[in-house]
Amino acid sequence: MNQRFKIQLFTLLIIFLVACNPSKEQHSTSSPLTSSAVEAKIDSILDILTLEEKVGLVHAQSKFSTKGVERLGIPELWMADGPHGVRAEINWDNWGYAGWTNDSITAFPALTCLAATFNPKLAGEYGFSLGEEARYRKKDVLLGPGVNIYRTPLNGRNFEYMGEDPFLASQLVVPYVQGVQKNGVAACVKHYALNNQELNRDKVSVEVSDRALHEIYLPAFKASVLKGNTWAIMGAYNKFRGEYTTHHELLMNDILKGEWNFDGVVVSDWSSAHDTKKAALYGLDIEMGTGTDGLGTTTLNHYDNYYLAKPFLKALKHGEIPETVLNDKVRRVLRLRYRTNMDNNRPLGSANTIEHQNVARNIATDGIVLLKNEDNFFPIQDKVGLTIAVIGENATRSMTKGGGSSELKPKFEISPLQGLKERYKNATILHALSYHTGPSVYDKITPSPYNADSLKVEALAIAKKADVVLFVGGLNKSHLQDCEGDDRRQYELPFDQNTIIEDLLKVNSNLGFISLTGNAFEIPWKSKVKGILQSWYLGSMAGHAIADIISGDVNPSGKLPFTFPKKLEDNGAHSFGAESYPGVNLTTEYKEDILVGYRWHDTKNIEPEYAFGFGLSYSTFEMSNITVNKTELAKDDAFTISCDLKNTGDYDGAEVVQVYVGKPESKVKRALKELKGFQKVEVKKGETANASITIPIEELAFYDETLADWNIEKGIYTIHVGNSSDNIIKTLEITVQ
Ligand code: GLC
Repeated sequence: MNQRFKIQLFTLLIIFLVACNPSKEQHSTSSPLTSSAVEAKIDSILDILTLEEKVGLVHAQSKFSTKGVERLGIPELWMADGPHGVRAEINWDNWGYAGWTNDSITAFPALTCLAATFNPKLAGEYGFSLGEEARYRKKDVLLGPGVNIYRTPLNGRNFEYMGEDPFLASQLVVPYVQGVQKNGVAACVKHYALNNQELNRDKVSVEVSDRALHEIYLPAFKASVLKGNTWAIMGAYNKFRGEYTTHHELLMNDILKGEWNFDGVVVSDWSSAHDTKKAALYGLDIEMGTGTDGLGTTTLNHYDNYYLAKPFLKALKHGEIPETVLNDKVRRVLRLRYRTNMDNNRPLGSANTIEHQNVARNIATDGIVLLKNEDNFFPIQDKVGLTIAVIGENATRSMTKGGGSSELKPKFEISPLQGLKERYKNATILHALSYHTGPSVYDKITPSPYNADSLKVEALAIAKKADVVLFVGGLNKSHLQDCEGDDRRQYELPFDQNTIIEDLLKVNSNLGFISLTGNAFEIPWKSKVKGILQSWYLGSMAGHAIADIISGDVNPSGKLPFTFPKKLEDNGAHSFGAESYPGVNLTTEYKEDILVGYRWHDTKNIEPEYAFGFGLSYSTFEMSNITVNKTELAKDDAFTISCDLKNTGDYDGAEVVQVYVGKPESKVKRALKELKGFQKVEVKKGETANASITIPIEELAFYDETLADWNIEKGIYTIHVGNSSDNIIKTLEITVQ
């Protein structure tokens, strides 16, 4: 065959292949079936399903799946964790991993890092990329994101959530959910609601005012339903006012499915259902994980004994529960299928792509927060003759393993040490553990096989030889750390790190601390170290992202999504004794009420170590011409804050303009100010950019318990504009008629 003919044949082949496999964009439309066509189909299916088949659709058949109806071609429904990536395949009937060789994926940064980006665009890329990987793994429901509010720095799962402010979480959860669902995979926003501690999570009953419930703890869920159009919500383990939240008349029937008109599916947390009649009547649509060992105590298939299985069938047959209750659940479960695995038009997904790795890296570098940078400690230039000592177990420890249900099996995970070694080709990189705590484990700490003293001696030796010391420490994903199922018992850093840091500083004061945590912690050596980077759990590309920032390849622009109190007692939840945290007699009263996080610090005038919204840059920015477009407003109106932002430093960078609103004269208790708008603005060095943030007056409403509804007070509001909750450049006033 001559060469020319070969080329023609090859070209034809390429054209044919492209024609057969249109680009993802063509697929990213939602199912061609209109919602009315879907509802009509659901009606027709409902008419021919048997009672047993309907009941089979509303509870688990395995650890992570529910039955379909084979005779009608209705497929099973498959779910997978989690918020940061698609969890490895788990066995049919127990929590063990199935050991597949094709379920490695991209681990994206923890959601606290996403929150720290203050970047809704990246939240959309996060959700879309993660949704592609879930689709590729043939999962119909992704069990994430989590949006429980950060109330106490001890909560083991804060790393999975989006910080202490309901507005920030609401702005980021919406694009994330939309991104996931563009792939024909359902997001499942969790844990609804008031799951703000892990200690006694499945027994504790939360007491909190209606006002704090609506103003602090529900907004992110409400936004994910009303704006994100999430197709699933997961109930929580805890109780609220004595009743389990997973089947709770007020939370599920009145608010979620009533007021918010949620048309999706409520999935239980695993074993968070506790009663047939309540699960049936109070909003639970799919029961998962009951008696979490799957088969229960007998070989008789345990799944048939679920609350919404045989007991439910019996109650229906005896007329104790009307079949309309079941039909509503089945309608929702079938609607979920038309949105996912019965949508023939959904894309095919992809996993471990360069695009996903770049998205993970961009979110990581955009979320890392520079907290301190004395004498321009950062960035550190790579040069021959420079010796950098990288010290601390977190420089090499895997942070995608452990932590509970969000743990992942990434195709690779670049450690901070590896990232630094690959970036610094001229400098000499030394490494020592300095402390060792054993592998990340879920429920017990294994004694370290190393001798603590020898580890410290080795670390001091390399610190003495080095020009620069980078201590990579913080918490980890083990039990009693940043891990599901329990809370930390102390606010201080564990594993004697504070002593190690003090000892290192004695031999080399040119030290920077790289913090890998999902929570705040006490920083007793803050004044003694040169630099502090809050670096989160960053997933597959961790080491590259950390090296991007430390080398100055990327200019940090992250802002804290939660406050760092100087000491635990400065935090609102920890200011009212045990009743308020961790609770007494399995009841936790949220006595700080609406004053969570910076709301507490501002209003009680308690200076934090580092404030919500704080983060430095290698550049400096000047905010000027801060104006509001109108000062007299009606209740259905909106106002716009504009300002100029000049980059007066030596690096291109980005700044987050933050707008907080307060009401000095009010008939109810108010926080001094609350975040109601923000915009991340990229500005090249020497240039000026403009920020413009529009805030509808309805965002200023407070939840009026006397009306059991939102209420906009008339009068003067203060508008605080700055680049951190504790750095307000200008305060303006508006008046609502
Ligand atoms: C866990 C978690 C939940 C997770 C589920 C399945 O207990 O609370 O977030 O999605 O069970 O692993």
